[in-house]
Amino acid sequence: AVQPVIMAGGSGTRLWPLSRAGYPKQFLVLGDSNQSLFQEAAERLSALAADDLAIAAPLIVGNEEHRFLVLDQLREIRQTPLAVVLEPMGRNTAPALTLAALQALEGGADPVLVVTPADQTVTDPAAYTAALQQAVRLAAQGVIAILGITPDAPETGYGYIRTTPELGAARVAQFVEKPNLETAQRYLSEGGYFWNSGMFVLKASVWMQALENFRPDIAEATRAAWTPRKCDASFVRPGKTEFAAVPSESVDYAVMERCPGSDFDIRMVPLSAGWNDLGAWDAVWQVARKDANGNASVGDVITQDSNNTLVHASGRLVSVVGLDDVVVIETADAVMVADRSRSQDVKKIVAQLDKAG
Ligand code: GDD
Ligand code: MG
Repeated sequence: AVQPVIMAGGSGTRLWPLSRAGYPKQFLVLGDSNQSLFQEAAERLSALAADDLAIAAPLIVGNEEHRFLVLDQLREIRQTPLAVVLEPMGRNTAPALTLAALQALEGGADPVLVVTPADQTVTDPAAYTAALQQAVRLAAQGVIAILGITPDAPETGYGYIRTTPELGAARVAQFVEKPNLETAQRYLSEGGYFWNSGMFVLKASVWMQALENFRPDIAEATRAAWTPRKCDASFVRPGKTEFAAVPSESVDYAVMERCPGSDFDIRMVPLSAGWNDLGAWDAVWQVARKDANGNASVGDVITQDSNNTLVHASGRLVSVVGLDDVVVIETADAVMVADRSRSQDVKKIVAQLDKAG
């Protein structure tokens, strides 16, 4: 069976102050549905099943702090996870995926993993399903399949994929994680580049081989944390001191950037499903329902002579006058006002708060 893996341990700092350490964005209802992004991800994965394609219960890798959010939100959508692997602290996605791969290899089988982030929306589930099923077929042959999105702006928060068209599934010629603005602009004007969706489809053993090849230090340190793991009915907990010693690195930097030109067969499947990574407030505005002036609002909000704003009121009445392209997020204990084009920099506020303790 195919093994879905949801990486749900991020902190979502760019959506502060709604997204908090104890309740990060993947567990918030941000899209147009009444489900959290994490729940949407789990539902999308279960819909991959087909006559010739069995889908196992999802494997979740998340943070110890969010274990009950994970269980409660899955119960709400009537899903029982195969396992919830809990990290004592975040070490980014490469160690997270490694824990998932080690768990998936437990039973002696070598399943295809469909690895997805927990912080995205798609508007065309049928197109999503078709693309992922194609990726699963490739991965069953040992390919590392990644899902690529046609870019429409020089976003610097994404990985960029350059492909060499070939037989439907395109071989990846280059993968560049989070280029600077100048480089991203050049990619867009040159053409032939795609955004990395953050979804990866590959066999558990292929991930382990690739990691051992490119980052043996991460592979070894994560195995060392896996060995003393403790399991109970719901949770799997790797060794805390051992996991603390694992280098923090993303899947993209650790492995994907290094695959093109290597012995690993990495290919891209195009995904055209109204994909959006709700990475920052600007993206939330993009997908939100808007009035005739382009204003999106949640809660008790009045806008006057304003255009293209996002105003989120959690408890109080929030009103804006004469503002264009501004984001206002009101919560019980914090209010954030930002130029919409500076949405990515909200994480700098959180960094300041962290420093201040
Ligand atoms: N378990 C676990 N542990 N999950 C994590 C951790 C961790 O330490 N860190 C992040 N995650 C989860 C997040 O919750 C999210 O669902 C997913 O892994 C991706 O992490 P992000 O931190 O959101 O990555 P990103 O958005 O900066 O970049 C990735 O996604 C982009 C598309 O959205 C990359 O893959 C980019 O190349 C890609 O374009
Ligand atoms: Mg993200």
